[in-house]
Amino acid sequence: MSGKVAVVGSNMVDLITYVTRMPGPGETLEAPSFSLGCGGKGANQAVAAAKLGADVMMVTRVGDDIFADNTINNLETLGVDTRHVVRVPGTSSGVAPIFVEESGENSILIVKGANEHLTPEEVDKAAEELKQCDLIVMQLEVPLETIYHTIAFGAKHGIPTLLNPAPAQPDLDASRITDVTYLVPNESELELLTGMTVSDEDSAEAAARSLMAKGIKTVIVTLGSKGALLVTKEGRKHFAPITVTPKDTTGAGDAFIGCFAHFYTRDKDLEAALSMSVRYAADSITRQGTQKSYATGAEFEAFCASLEK
Ligand code: RIB
Ligand code: NA
Repeated sequence: MSGKVAVVGSNMVDLITYVTRMPGPGETLEAPSFSLGCGGKGANQAVAAAKLGADVMMVTRVGDDIFADNTINNLETLGVDTRHVVRVPGTSSGVAPIFVEESGENSILIVKGANEHLTPEEVDKAAEELKQCDLIVMQLEVPLETIYHTIAFGAKHGIPTLLNPAPAQPDLDASRITDVTYLVPNESELELLTGMTVSDEDSAEAAARSLMAKGIKTVIVTLGSKGALLVTKEGRKHFAPITVTPKDTTGAGDAFIGCFAHFYTRDKDLEAALSMSVRYAADSITRQGTQKSYATGAEFEAFCASLEK
């Protein structure tokens, strides 16, 4: 049986320009191609989990522009429950102008739009559905008060929560996320949260443990091209990277988390879910775009089978 996953988070429309190099100040430069797609860290994570077969609902805000309809249609087409997607009159939807270089490396600007005002009350309106979930997933493209509120909600009702503290937010108060079940930062987000230097597995583990000493149960550090590190009370485990030729790394971290949410809620096997997540994120960077680069369950099985050969 597939797991029930809720995402309390953002959605954006990704405006992706593929560049040969970035223009300098005052310079006009031609770029080879452009792609419009649905994105936003919250929606990306929801869509990755849904494509793999999880039962997913989203609590999010859209504006009242053409992007809003597009975002809702996209979520519905992919089977995500949109009953708690709130349309806000007089606001723009979130957009993300993104620039991807030939190496696959990306630079992202986000304009949060409607996401900027997702309220704790909007989370409470979804309380009955949230209580039925196996995991509530969050990121930092919505207000911090809403994040703290959702973590407290999960703790109160015994629903596991996962926080991906991205994009890095200097205002995030580490003392208000101690009840989160899974914290999934990358290296720079972990540095910002702890004030400790993270440069290798030992330093990542030390920083993770400093947060666990305050109450967080499990820390999963994503290491980009170096894989991922799981730190629990019992010890640590490194998940080796899968080497692929990158086309577009945008949204790979979201692919990782969405995949984790699906497998972990379905099978309740932390390590197995993480080895799948490393694979799923690697597969996503072989294609352009964010959500549109995420594999379905069948496509992902084929990718995993190709790795065995
Ligand atoms: O993590 C990638 C995402 O960050 C993009 O889809 C963009 O919308 C920004 O939210
Ligand atoms: Na991609």
